[in-house]
Amino acid sequence: MSSIKERVFVTAATGNIGTGVVRGLVKQGIDTTAYVRDEQKVKDLFKKELTTGHLKLVVGSYSSIDVFTKAIKGHTRLFLLVAAHGLKPWSMSQIKGALGRIAFEQGVRQIVDLSSAFVSSYGKKGIIGYVHTAAEEKLWALADENPEQRSLVVLRPGAFMTNHFRGDIHTIKHQNKIASCASPSSKSTWIDTKDISDCAAVVLSESVEKHDRNVYELGGETLTEEQRAAVFSKVLGKSIKYEQQSMEDFYKASISHGLPHSFVYHFALMASKDICDNPTPEIALIIGRPLRTLKDWVNENVKAFQ
Ligand SMILES: NC(=O)c1ccc[n+]([C@@H]2O[C@H](COP(=O)([O-])OP(=O)(O)OC[C@H]3O[C@@H](n4cnc5c(N)ncnc54)[C@H](OP(=O)(O)O)[C@@H]3O)[C@@H](O)[C@H]2O)c1
Repeated sequence: MSSIKERVFVTAATGNIGTGVVRGLVKQGIDTTAYVRDEQKVKDLFKKELTTGHLKLVVGSYSSIDVFTKAIKGHTRLFLLVAAHGLKPWSMSQIKGALGRIAFEQGVRQIVDLSSAFVSSYGKKGIIGYVHTAAEEKLWALADENPEQRSLVVLRPGAFMTNHFRGDIHTIKHQNKIASCASPSSKSTWIDTKDISDCAAVVLSESVEKHDRNVYELGGETLTEEQRAAVFSKVLGKSIKYEQQSMEDFYKASISHGLPHSFVYHFALMASKDICDNPTPEIALIIGRPLRTLKDWVNENVKAFQ
């Protein structure tokens, strides 16, 4: 880091990625502020980090703008992640635009934004592509208002391996199968959220100039649906089959579970097109190790699937 006293502000600090970012920064002795909704949850999550003197907590949400404005003062970097769940299609760009503007105006020099590989591969096609593309556009425009002072780095990850905890975990555990409407040979590129956190922590701890205006796509491993099922079979030591549902059955079942049309339509769209065009082994140049495979991830989480 530079001679300026750096202080990093981390939003969504209790999430999959935010937790790893906080731990990665505190481990390097970097003063870090975790922006959280539930103080008690954080005290359990960051027991060790809180003893170091490098971690401070601020309780607030995306909508508590006054809290954010006061708290961001004195910080030089911002990790910006907005959870898409339950938001209106236009909310993510509004929230990121508002928090990003306040952060830059209060003296933050670098924002590291968590976006999605959909922005590269789909643009605004599909609702997830739309929300992230619209949010990125706001942030790029903000950075370009004062390019000398404002740096932006965008991370665009592929499909999270943690998505297996949402739906697939139930069919893997109880029916020995993974079911979706994609063809068995359809490919997806998966990423371990640890790799995303590590990449963010490196960018937030190195010089602002080094990473300025880079877009880092992150894809660990591209697998067909059949290969994905085979990874689970191998690690769990039992046969997990891939079952292709009709698009109509997939749509009806997802809607009956309460998912909104736009998301289900988007997932149907993904059945024939990968989120990330290719894996991105070049990320090893930043994080200093190869990206993790799905086998690594299932091995680490094996108990949850038994
Ligand atoms: N899943 C994928 O395959 C995929 C792929 C590419 C990009 N993405 C993007 O990745 C992001 C999700 O990352 P993740 O998995 O780390 O998220 P996550 O584990 O679901 O965590 C969400 C975090 O956001 C916080 N949060 C939720 N609502 C909030 C609010 N109103 N105000 C303040 N904080 C709030 C949560 O706090 P609490 O702990 O208090 O709930 C939690 O810390 C989304 O932007 C998604 O679009 C996902």
